Amino acid sequence: METTANNLVTVEKSKTSKIDQVDFDNLSFGSIYSDHMLVCDYKNGAWENPKVVPYGPVSLDPSAKIFHYGQSIFEGMKAYKDSEESTWLFRPLDNHKRLNISAKRLAIPEIPEDYFMEGLKALLKVDDQWIPKNEGSSMYIRPFIFASGQGFHASPANEYKFMICLAPSGSYFSGKVKVLIEEKYSRSANGGVGYAKAGGNYAGQFYPTQLAVEKGYNQVIWTDDNTHEYIEEAGAMNIFVRINDTLITGPTSDRILDGITRKSIIEIAKEEKIAVEVRKLTVAEVVAAAKDGSLKEMFGAGTAAVISPISGFGFKETDYDLPELEESYASLLKKRITDIQYNKAEDKFGWRYKL
Ligand code: PLP
Ligand code: COI
Repeated sequence: METTANNLVTVEKSKTSKIDQVDFDNLSFGSIYSDHMLVCDYKNGAWENPKVVPYGPVSLDPSAKIFHYGQSIFEGMKAYKDSEESTWLFRPLDNHKRLNISAKRLAIPEIPEDYFMEGLKALLKVDDQWIPKNEGSSMYIRPFIFASGQGFHASPANEYKFMICLAPSGSYFSGKVKVLIEEKYSRSANGGVGYAKAGGNYAGQFYPTQLAVEKGYNQVIWTDDNTHEYIEEAGAMNIFVRINDTLITGPTSDRILDGITRKSIIEIAKEEKIAVEVRKLTVAEVVAAAKDGSLKEMFGAGTAAVISPISGFGFKETDYDLPELEESYASLLKKRITDIQYNKAEDKFGWRYKL
């Protein structure tokens, strides 16, 4: 039966639910999906009204341009339940803005803010019971747009699909993360698409990351494509390094994703009176700090990763371990940001968004 969630979004409810099959106490990351999804088609030069429909496969013509030319972008967000079972989002308008930044770079039509927000809200309301209630878990939200229009001509498609899927999820990493600082491959280049959340950016990382995993690392830390001397970011998160008491992260550029967690952490750290430097950081400086003991911590920051402490890094066939700190910046900052996300603490910054 179709009902109207609001003036923009229609809802077709699933006749059955898979929710009883889900073990909400043992959720992995992004591997089970709620009963519904949002679909919104772009045809004849305009986005049609978004629809909430039962979760299921999408039918595409084999010549759809997504398959051949990789016109695909995505976002990563989370919904959190507080102790009263109210639902909160974290800076969702920033995700909408970034999706459109990615869209522009990939010659994909931008999605209007109300289509994104009203579609997301309608979907989350229909699958409200799927949003995990135990802390540490949350509803991972995956908005994405891809070229559904057909044709082997290497040019932008004339039809697209904007979709949102929901995956009740636990942690992205199961423990501490060991990283390899990359000296050969590159994730992105000047003038490229590194700042966009384009599917191809991730596909291009898989092979070098597989090589790193074979050597016992979990993620690659990318360095600049030109000299491989500067730390950029990791496969699924931005990187912070603590040398003595100063927290350092590289500046964003057209090669690096402008992470929402990263910019939030910078503001929270400043408020905590932690010395924060946003500046270029060389691999040599990090290696030297590891050798003389001034390298206290490294951690990754991202929606999926939250704040993931790094246990050590490899560079040029040598492994460097980081100390176990009792009072780390990573744990302090993780608590501060998750307390805001789960509505457990005051949100001075106005980042929380009530559903
Ligand atoms: N860098 C990359 C390559 C990512 O995929 C992500 C995840 O979205 C991030 C950084 C962190 O961004 P955010 O904090 O907005 O999730
Ligand atoms: C996110 O953190 O939301 C991301 O998109 C990273 C992804 C590779 C899991």
